[in-house]
Amino acid sequence: MNPIARFAAPLLCFCLLTPIVGHSQTAGDVQLPIIDYQTRFLPVVAQQGMVASPEKLAAEIGLDILKRGGNAVDAAVATGFALAVTYPRAGNLGGGGFMLIHLADGNRQTLVDYRETAPAAASRDMFLNATGDIDRMREYFSHQSAGVPGTVAGLIHALETYGTMRLKDVLKPAIELAERGLPVSFALNYEIAARAERLRMNPEAARLFFKPDGSQHEIGETWQQKDLAWTLKQISKRGREGFYEGKVAARIVAEMKAGDGLITLADLAGYRAVERSPLRGTFHEFDIVSTPPPSSGGVHIVQMLNILESYPLKAMGHNSAAYLHHLTESMKLAYADRSEYLGDPDFVEVPVARLIAKDYAQQRRQLINSSTATPATEIAPGRPVPPESSDTTHYTVADSEGNVVSNTYTLNFSFGSHIAVPGTGMLLNNEMADFAAKAGTSNAFSLMHGEANSIAGGKRPLSSMSPTMVFRDGKPWLATGSPGGSLIITTVLQTILNAMVFDMNIATAAAGARVHHQWMPDKLRVEQGISPDTIDLLQGMGHEVEVGNRTLGRTQSIVLHDGWLFGATDTRRPGGWVAGY
Ligand code: DON
Repeated sequence: MNPIARFAAPLLCFCLLTPIVGHSQTAGDVQLPIIDYQTRFLPVVAQQGMVASPEKLAAEIGLDILKRGGNAVDAAVATGFALAVTYPRAGNLGGGGFMLIHLADGNRQTLVDYRETAPAAASRDMFLNATGDIDRMREYFSHQSAGVPGTVAGLIHALETYGTMRLKDVLKPAIELAERGLPVSFALNYEIAARAERLRMNPEAARLFFKPDGSQHEIGETWQQKDLAWTLKQISKRGREGFYEGKVAARIVAEMKAGDGLITLADLAGYRAVERSPLRGTFHEFDIVSTPPPSSGGVHIVQMLNILESYPLKAMGHNSAAYLHHLTESMKLAYADRSEYLGDPDFVEVPVARLIAKDYAQQRRQLINSSTATPATEIAPGRPVPPESSDTTHYTVADSEGNVVSNTYTLNFSFGSHIAVPGTGMLLNNEMADFAAKAGTSNAFSLMHGEANSIAGGKRPLSSMSPTMVFRDGKPWLATGSPGGSLIITTVLQTILNAMVFDMNIATAAAGARVHHQWMPDKLRVEQGISPDTIDLLQGMGHEVEVGNRTLGRTQSIVLHDGWLFGATDTRRPGGWVAGY
């Protein structure tokens, strides 16, 4: 079928179906061709530029940058700073992340790693108490939870290296929103309410997120963030020094001293975003470009695709018991390897090339029994050696020149450590909890971690963040990513499989019910939408299935096809938006 026919519909049909799409927006004045009533979910369609974001105001800010002639990197940086204002649960200045960039000029890709680093004074056993047990409160919700923030360095690095606009111009909309205030949306009100108890425990967070009488801002009321505007202005005036040195840095360090934290002026001044070669793999005719260590995402997405490549997935049928069984078994194998081999490549040797080798996948595939679930306890990390010699958020941007940006960044938990730095409007991340507080134990996402991910000063904690692009005929075709901690990797995997194998349009690919297995605990989590019959069959194969009403991940995706942009915000959470023109 003509791909446009599959993706598009006339405006009337679009408007009628908008409630089904939920949070997507109109296609502006784009001429939408040919009716296809088979289309279950309609992506937003545009031609010139697009931003798929977890929040509307930030998406519109990014789109405005594109309309003013900025490229996808300019728009991504503006959206990143704007989300720090409009989406405080995960948008941030005090966190870190990964930006995957496709540059049309030269048809090449690069990855900006702006993951937080452990402060120099951090040490292997810093979260253990006198009896050798992990002090979870200190790991999750203390000043020591915070890694040295990377977001400001990363966004500025991307802008200066690949953008076209001045920093002050991409920062201006975020500064104005923080200063003038923004109307509290349903989603913002809901997100703050969900974390109100813990936010109120920190006096500065309580001052920032609640009214002087302690009550919450109602939906529609204006919420101003003067301190955050001040911090953004310091960055606007002085670039990275405006954050990593001078008054902002002094305020961060003063708060660290007051709260027994570890970050020093030297840690801040020494922080560097680094560029890395993206992780590359193939799946049938598709090229996969994703996030390398210190994220585990790309390695395991490619590893699972390698394992799955030789099965007749399409014939099995989307979300059939046979399909989900093979998917699940590949997940167990990948997450077992994650627990052993993945960490910061600047500190430990990660056998990336072996883990993503087709022959290693072939070897590991032998462990999959086609009709019975292998208990996690019977799966150990593989031996891909000998060693080679040698509430996160995601948004995606595409511009008219063919540049694409896929960015995932985070404070780790929703609202990070829930501790704000007085006078900056900024929350501290709790990314130190992504390290192994104790080798052989699991973290907040129940992920098992080994020595490769132990704590050391200057080291980056292992991440699951996986901004990913799929290329077809050498051109970018699909860009996506997700929050969700350990769920990120399997969410991205299923989204791209839905599009690559099952030929779904991007909105349908995003909406399809997902499953998740991470080796340990030995449980298969399934979303609502997997049929009871299928669950019965999976249980019959030996899977311990956990059906809950919690959703898995939240993608923001764009497909590029024949000069069209098709965007989809995941309907699992409120507030997402695709802005296009
Ligand atoms: O880097 C990681 O893998 C985690 N810090 C991500 C946390 C996350 O996705 C939380 N969002 N729901």
